[in-house]
Amino acid sequence: MTTEQLLSWPAPSRSRGREPADPRFADGTAWIDGKLVPVAEATLPLLDWGFLRSDACQETISAWDGLLFRLDDHLDRFWRSLERLRMASPLSREEVRGVVHSLIAAAGYDNAYVQIIMTRGRPPIGSRDIRLCANRFQAFCIPYVWIATPEVQQRGLHVHVGSRHRVPAASVDPMVKHYHWLDFELGLLEAFDNGAETVVLTDGHGNVLEGPGFNIFVRQGDRLLTPRTGMLDGMTRRTVMEICADAGIQVEETDVPVEALLAADEAFLTTTAGGVLPVTSVGGRAIRNGPGPFTAQIHAAYWQRRADGWHGEPVDYAAASAILAAE
Ligand SMILES: Cc1ncc(COP(=O)(O)O)c(C=O)c1O
Repeated sequence: MTTEQLLSWPAPSRSRGREPADPRFADGTAWIDGKLVPVAEATLPLLDWGFLRSDACQETISAWDGLLFRLDDHLDRFWRSLERLRMASPLSREEVRGVVHSLIAAAGYDNAYVQIIMTRGRPPIGSRDIRLCANRFQAFCIPYVWIATPEVQQRGLHVHVGSRHRVPAASVDPMVKHYHWLDFELGLLEAFDNGAETVVLTDGHGNVLEGPGFNIFVRQGDRLLTPRTGMLDGMTRRTVMEICADAGIQVEETDVPVEALLAADEAFLTTTAGGVLPVTSVGGRAIRNGPGPFTAQIHAAYWQRRADGWHGEPVDYAAASAILAAE
């Protein structure tokens, strides 16, 4: 197969989805205070510390062709974030699973992007005692999100190495999937100013870490490198490592200096929002002319596994009806 063919992805074949349960759900759904609402109408209490202090954690979960991917792994990671932030979920794990299914079912999507979110909540008015906050659960579902559109993936992304460092792990635990994104957001603006499409941030010691919503891999000859620390252990990163392990390809979790990225034979980003995204230029310099063959193979393997139902959980398209009937 050509690189171009490998960089396409299996067109949805099953189409388990259906019409939205309510036409107002066509743009997406949200779960707020135990109710399903159209996503554009979802609001948060102004005094929630999730908003006032970025005191929140989340999981981004995708469904493709009616199959949720690695839902149990996402729930494990969500509960790990909760523990590290010393939050308590008002919903059980099975209730959260039910919400994920209901959000997609109500929207009727085959291909969906779901966020489940815990915010700190707020203490009684007048108090600043974090221990008195009642943690709040909310979630939303919108159509599947691509960090890079399929067309951009065919030619590869232009990446900028940000001048700003990622918030240090000693300050904010990167293994908590959090919203401390001001470094990424300003890095993105810097990337756009420099004609790039996204940004990777470094650790302040010259090593690349991750970017807004993705991990990074670098191929140099027969070595495949990915940062070992200071970043989120992305679900897609894990998937790529499993694909590589099955193929007998060694992935080195190590420091990845910016120079290694600049001198890479190939580089790619991994994310729930798009899968395996080829990189073809860094800092305005082409690292190669078009996506590389190794990246294309990993891209194809990722989408093939998803199409085969690997780590897949079929969306329960009947899940929304009971909740909607009770409202
Ligand atoms: C900071 C950060 N790193 C990496 C990732 C990639 O993780 P995953 O593959 O689980 O989507 C994300 C996903 O949103 C992220 O926010």
